[in-house]
Amino acid sequence: MFAKFNLDSIYSNKSDIIRVEKYIEEFQKKFETKHYTILRTPGRVNLIGEHIDYSNLPVFPAGIEKDIYIIFTPSDNNLITITSFGDKFPKETFQITRNLQPFSQGHWGNYVKAGIQTILDYFDSTGKGFQALIAGNIPAGSGLSSSSALVVASAGAYLTANKLDIDKLILAEKLAEGEKYVGTAGGGMDQTASIFAKKNHAIKIDFAPLNITPVPFPDQYDIIISHSLTVAEKSKGAKDAFNLRSMETKIATALLSQYFQTNYGADYSIQFIGDLKEDKFSEIRNNITPIIEKLFSDKKNLTIDEIQKQLNLDTQEKINLFFTLKNGSLFPYKEFSFKLEKRIKHIITEWERVENSVKALKEGDIKKFGQLMNESHESCKNNYEVSCNELDTLVDIERKNGAIGARLTGAGFGGSTVCIVFKEKTENFINNVINEYYRGYLKKTTNEITNFSEFIFKTKATQGTCLIDI
Ligand code: GLA
Repeated sequence: MFAKFNLDSIYSNKSDIIRVEKYIEEFQKKFETKHYTILRTPGRVNLIGEHIDYSNLPVFPAGIEKDIYIIFTPSDNNLITITSFGDKFPKETFQITRNLQPFSQGHWGNYVKAGIQTILDYFDSTGKGFQALIAGNIPAGSGLSSSSALVVASAGAYLTANKLDIDKLILAEKLAEGEKYVGTAGGGMDQTASIFAKKNHAIKIDFAPLNITPVPFPDQYDIIISHSLTVAEKSKGAKDAFNLRSMETKIATALLSQYFQTNYGADYSIQFIGDLKEDKFSEIRNNITPIIEKLFSDKKNLTIDEIQKQLNLDTQEKINLFFTLKNGSLFPYKEFSFKLEKRIKHIITEWERVENSVKALKEGDIKKFGQLMNESHESCKNNYEVSCNELDTLVDIERKNGAIGARLTGAGFGGSTVCIVFKEKTENFINNVINEYYRGYLKKTTNEITNFSEFIFKTKATQGTCLIDI
């Protein structure tokens, strides 16, 4: 079900091809076979549209040259054996049963199981296993979606090994759901981007219904990604912060829904802010800024008790609906203030910025595009509060050195920035950022980091999940 591409057509650098050849060699050595299939899934960089996919609002990412490979050969039985490139993790074998038992929390193999479990659920059956080497170069916790790429790649290998076919739009939706196996409440951007990314294009992703619109990325500019070196792993430290944002979004949405129903009638309830895309909300959409001002100006900081009162949560069941964490326990801090006004402002303005940036890119107005990226960062920082000092410093340095637009990308709380730079300035730009951020601000010496290009690099927009022809 996946198209085949040559390695040459994927990368701009020969070094990537050499890297993949090493993966193949290691697969052959570890599994002592010459028969294999190769599947590649890219990481993604989100150009704009942060933390709004779980409101079913559009986002605008691209596939990148950093990626995950799964090199595999089907087995005759129902066992899956996975190993990683290098000696970091030992080989693991598990049996395919209808409900896969997770490895211990934080184990990398859980992403593999998440992908496979999703397919087992979809087809409501079990199939045969495979032996696989998994390799890649997306730094974990860098905001470039290494985890979802692994989920997609694993599902892709299982589908291919079992000759199963599934509509890719459905696959993307199911895998977004399926990643909850590892306990994070994200939206559908990462899995969809990894599957549908398109060479030399950014893709606008609309949700509910899922729809992909590729937009060519102009050749004169480079996309540059820089890791702040603050690690934000969605399945680890950043998990609580991420889940808290999705909780705040849910509460703000419920308050809006209540307001619409009181003022316009029972038909006007919403479950996601994205429901406002429906025609019947057009008048509300046009007035959304004043509505938000009015409704949220006295809701800057609300405690759980106040929210319970405002939303008439008069039973424990209703309370659980809003305040249950992913691990099943209730949000424990009674005195905690939910900053609903700021959160909703981010969501609504970011939605508009995505629409405008897609338009700007289609029209070739890169200056406008960059300006919207900058505004998005400010909103992520001040309203959604998912930035950190390192990301803010990095973005400042990048803008000072000529980035047309610079912002944090992905979940935030660390991870990477993305910026757009005029191609001719790229080399200088990268050197300056190395000097001012990595050497200057972080005080990293060349002894500590021998190869800065692992952390700051340009990327072409690359192809989504595909098989590789060797
Ligand atoms: C993570 C999630 C995505 C999205 C981003 C923030 O990467 O997995 O679904 O919410 O954060 O935009």
